[in-house]
Amino acid sequence: MNGRLVPYSEATIHVQSNAVKYGTSVFEGLRAYWNESRQELFVFRLGEHCRRLFDSLKLMRMEHEFTLEELRHSVLETLRKNEYREDVHVRQTAYLAADGNVEATGPTGLAVDARPRKLAGKAALDICVSSWVRIPDGAMPPRIKCSANYQNGRLAFLEAKAGGYDYTVLLNSRGKVSEAPGAALFMVRGGVPATPPVTADVLESITRTTLVQLFREQHGLSVAERDIDRTELCVADEAFLCGSGWEVTPVASVDRLPLSQPAPGPLTRAIAATYFRAVRGELPEYGDWLTPVYGRA
Ligand SMILES: Cc1ncc(COP(=O)(O)O)c(C=O)c1O
Repeated sequence: MNGRLVPYSEATIHVQSNAVKYGTSVFEGLRAYWNESRQELFVFRLGEHCRRLFDSLKLMRMEHEFTLEELRHSVLETLRKNEYREDVHVRQTAYLAADGNVEATGPTGLAVDARPRKLAGKAALDICVSSWVRIPDGAMPPRIKCSANYQNGRLAFLEAKAGGYDYTVLLNSRGKVSEAPGAALFMVRGGVPATPPVTADVLESITRTTLVQLFREQHGLSVAERDIDRTELCVADEAFLCGSGWEVTPVASVDRLPLSQPAPGPLTRAIAATYFRAVRGELPEYGDWLTPVYGRA
């Protein structure tokens, strides 16, 4: 926390802090994967996550003097000092710790925590289309990974759970599919993968970008980045959610309508296999995406 390794119980801020009172904090969730044969822990797309944290800080007008290198270093040091030799989930949080009015812009603190986390690996999900609308760019931009934004997804998730669904996807204020509370969405229709564009009131997901590239380079498929209607989702052949946390998680049904292919469908299975090989360092051509923690690789 702010450059010091502290026990979990001491990683605290005041209840009157701006972050608690007004939700002025931005964060990143990323993963590091253990590669047994190389005896190395690889952080997946660390640079991209740090850059997105910078974008969130900028858009929230939070003042700081962090450098990209400091952000990277704080993640690597946290992992090294905890001597992890297993898959872990890492969170970087930048927050306004001081008391202050809603318009305060600093000082900005930085915390990094890491904890072991199994692969998402969920069986296929039964999801619904939420009655809650995704927050639009003109109100609370989903492009910013701001903690307060997650209340929109929280309401949608709780509604879905109350209705007996595993998870949910929100439409944006234009009535098009946006994303799930904590994941991007892809569907497959007629052999063509599609995902909403980055202008559909979504977080610019790093996993989404990764999968678009892997579909093209490893499977010869161009992903259509286009608006998706609610009803298209219901008649899709396949669909899956993706994200650093959710990895690639198949969808079985939407609004209780089963997708045409039993989940996981063939393209979902194929892209998931490619993704997991890439994150674990088994595809040398994507070595740039991985940062070794112990420097043995
Ligand atoms: C709202 C939302 N959309 C999409 C994603 C996926 O983003 P990424 O692939 O960068 O983890 C996340 C994950 O953090 C998210 O919270």
